[in-house]
This record gives sequence, C-alpha cells and structure tokens, in this order.
Amino acid sequence: MPIRVIDARPFEGQKPGTSGLRKKTSVFMQPGYLENFVQSIFDTIGGVAGKTLVVGGDGRFFNAEATQIILKMAAANGATRAIVGQGALLSTPAVSCIIRKRQADGGLVLSASHNPGGPDEDFGLKYNVSNGGPAPEAITDEVFRRSAEISSYRILDAENIDLEQVGQTALGDMAVEVIDPVADYQSLMESLFDFAAIRELFASGFTMRFDAMHAVTGPYAKAIFEDALGAPAGTVINAVPLADFGGGHPDPNPVWAKPLYDLMFSGDAPDFAAASDGDGDRNMILGRDTYVTPSDSLAVLAANAHLAPGYKAGLKGIARSMPTSRAADRVAEHLGIGSYETPTGWKFFGNLLDADMATICGEESAGTSSNHIREKDGVWAVLLWLNVLASRRQSVKQILASHWAQFGRNYYSRHDYEAIDAADAAKLMSDLRDKLRTLIGTAIEGMSINSADDFGYLDPVDGSNTESQGVRIEFDGGSRVVLRLSGTGTVGATLRVYIERFEADPTQHDLDPQAALSALIAAADQFAEIKVRTGRTQPDLMT
Ligand code: G1P
Ligand code: ZN
Repeated sequence: MPIRVIDARPFEGQKPGTSGLRKKTSVFMQPGYLENFVQSIFDTIGGVAGKTLVVGGDGRFFNAEATQIILKMAAANGATRAIVGQGALLSTPAVSCIIRKRQADGGLVLSASHNPGGPDEDFGLKYNVSNGGPAPEAITDEVFRRSAEISSYRILDAENIDLEQVGQTALGDMAVEVIDPVADYQSLMESLFDFAAIRELFASGFTMRFDAMHAVTGPYAKAIFEDALGAPAGTVINAVPLADFGGGHPDPNPVWAKPLYDLMFSGDAPDFAAASDGDGDRNMILGRDTYVTPSDSLAVLAANAHLAPGYKAGLKGIARSMPTSRAADRVAEHLGIGSYETPTGWKFFGNLLDADMATICGEESAGTSSNHIREKDGVWAVLLWLNVLASRRQSVKQILASHWAQFGRNYYSRHDYEAIDAADAAKLMSDLRDKLRTLIGTAIEGMSINSADDFGYLDPVDGSNTESQGVRIEFDGGSRVVLRLSGTGTVGATLRVYIERFEADPTQHDLDPQAALSALIAAADQFAEIKVRTGRTQPDLMT
C-alpha cells in the first residue's frame, strides 16, 4: 500500500494542556489538524518505527474516524503493531493498563474526558508513554514546538479497517490487534480486590446504582459489577457509550450527575452509588444521604486500603495535587508514610509511582488511583470502596463519620467561574501574584494570613521544576484558599477557587460545607476581587 507524504502547514495553538490537546471537535476535524498533531507526537518521540502503540478512545463524536487516521499514520511511520479496542473504544485507565501489561511503547487516547462531545462540543488527544502514564511536560512542550514547524506528515493510502471484530488484521506492514476493551482491565481488578467478598455483599441484598453517563465506562461497569460481582441487572445505568453522551456533560459531580445525586438523598436511595466520566478516569462516590468529596474519598481509601488484597502490605506514600484538601496528609502522618503535594494533573504522579514513593494518589477533581496503572481510575475507586464496604459492613455515612472522628474534617469546596474573559482572568491572577507579599500578616474577615505564595514543584525524582501552579493563601489555623486557572477548558478561561478549613471538633462535623466555609469565601472575594473582575455574582459550579 502506498505511503503518502502530505505537505503540512502548522496550525496555531497545538499546545497540550493539563491533559493532552483539547479543542472544539470542528477544530480537530479540519483537514490536517489531527494529522499534524499526531505526526508531531511521533517526531517528538523519535518516530514509531518498530514500535507497538495502543489506540482507543471514549467513543465521542469523531472517535472512530480519528482512530482510523491515527492507525494509517502509525503504519506509514513504520509502527510494527497497533492494539486497538473493539469499536475504537478504550477507557483511559484501560489504555494505561494495556500499555503496561503488553509492554507497548506508548498509547494514544482519544478523549476530552468530562467535556461534552458532539460536532459542536469538544474532542481531545493525549499521548501516554511506556509506563502507561501521560507524557511528561518535557515531551508535551516538545510536541508543541514541533507542531509549530511541521512541514509534512505520513499516512498510508488504505481503506478503513474493520474495528468491530475482535482479532488480528493488518494495515500495510503493521499488525493490528483488535481486542476486547474490558478483559485485560478486568483481570487486573480481579488481582487487586476481593471479588468473593464483594459478591457476598451483593448477595446479602446490598444495593448500588452506577451511572456510566452514556460514556465509555458502561461496558466495563456492566462486565465487572453486574456479570462478575452479581449486582442485579439495571445496577449500571446509561451504560451504552454514545457519541454525544446523550447530550449530557459526562462529569461525575453533584451538578452534572444530579439525578444520581438526588436519588441518594431520596427515600429510594440504594446503599451506594457512583458515577464516572467520559473516559472513565474520574469517579463520584455517594452513600445513602451522603456525598463523599473526592478529597475525603482519597483520605478514606488510603486509610482503608489495607482491607483489599492488593494493598494488604500497606502503602508506601500518598500523593495529592496541591489544591486537593489536606485530609490525605493526616492519614499519611498517622500511617507514618510519605505525603506528596504535586501540581494539578495526573502526569505529576507518574514519577512518584514509578519510584515506589507513593502507592495511592488523588485529586480533588474526582480522580483517585494507585500504582496499578499510571492514570486515575474511576472503576478502581468504586471497587476499593466496595471492598471496604464488604469488609467493614458499615454504611458510607458511618465510615465517613468515623473517619472524621479519628482524623478531623477538612471542609472543602471548589468554586468554578467558567468561560470568563481570558484577558480578565489572566489579569486577576497576575495582579494577585503581584500583591502576595503585601497580604502576609494582614487580616481579612477576622482571619490573619500566615503565608501567600505561588506554588512551584520540585520533582523529587527527576529534579524538574514546575512553576506558577496556583496561588495559595494560608490563614491561621490551617485554613486556605487556592486560586488557579484551568488548563483543560476550550472557551475563554475558567477560574478555580479552592476553599478548605480544618475542623477537629466532632460536634462540628455536620455543618453545610458552604456555610462552614463562608468566611473564607468572603475573604477570597476580597483579596482577589473575583466578583468585580469576572462580573459574576455566583460561581457556575460548586463541588
Ligand atoms: C482538571 C482538573 C485536574 C485534572 C484535569 C484532567 O484540570 O482540575 O485535577 O487532572 O482536569 O482531568 P484543570 O482544568 O483544572 O487544569
Ligand atoms: Zn476523564
């Protein structure tokens, strides 16, 4: 089959953000746009000749077509083998699992995660390296540099191949293996968790609802929760992946998964509920009458992980992204293990996991995972919760209350101001950075500011430095407010304000979080002038 070398002109702005390149689908569908970016990745990693790549995505609009293009380009660039999920589907954690298990050289994940999908919505592409994790910044920066000077790309002149049948085919000289998207991932889960105990839990009448949000986790959740663990049919809802996620926003939080959230606070609530996002790496955990914040979930899972067979030897350390609440640090201290604070984005956990310094990692944005792969993992978090519930035989509410009684409660909320003017947002942040020094020692809303800085991270493994990762304002008593701009949005800028207050007194553990945090919320508005500068009176989203 002929290889075509197509002349290319660089597109502006092919700069990977917090998690790969995300753009409007129409931008990605422009002739040459995807091709340029893929060729830039291949060029950056020293070509793909002789290599094995894993390819798959979350099923959103353009997923199947983009997969065909990537396969033809991989073949034209000399790749030996491509491993593709049936129907071009693979969850992000499954890609990470398969890269590691099959010792692939890397993988391409087609997803814009929790962003909506469809012709007028978002598309994305992320490159993962041979440890199964997202490419580190040294690579993503170089991909961007390369994309600005690209002059041609290579693609095989071939018909699309059938990705619906599991089995081995070929594209030119490249072998293509179409695999069941679930099997490798499921057997990894079976190796970590006590499936027999969870099966018994379901057999005893325990009820659960899992909302796959019409996204990629549907087939994984059905196979694992219903078929393998015996949860009744119908436990998994919205289980068929759709190109537009049913018109929804596949982000598992109280706003976008509202029906599930409301169910758990109604008379019909099952014992346990969970949801995951577009590409299956995020999770939301709910109990009857209980919402578990992602920061608390990380802390509870770390404190109880030893109950699952895969973690019975204990944890080496716990890592969290900087804006994530410090509840997990208290668990690490109690266990006498290391705790690490990294910039936002999963890629910063990879080195700590590879070096066996951390075992469990998490982010306030509904991501939790462990050293079993190098991505966050929604179904994994749900299974660890189920394993803990099967072992402790207490409700989610009881487990959370006893955790807070032992460690204290870190009240926590994130306020997002979405699609604000990018220049206004940048100015808000730069003006705030400029006055950080003058804030130290002053008092706002009756609370004095102990420290104020712009978070920078020195990676303890490779010594790399990452600067300007968010402004931290810390008050007396350990309360804090963090502000940063999102690196995953596609319209204007999103300002994220993270608010946290520690409460040791168990009689004060049942407050409404927004009320418990009200003084800090008011303080943040004063020092950052959020309402005046954004023109908004309310955040668009509070998690
Ligand atoms: C957001 C989250 C971050 C997460 C990323 C990818 O990034 O805040 O924790 O790793 O999505 O899922 P942000 O938009 O804040 O840059
Ligand atoms: Zn995701």
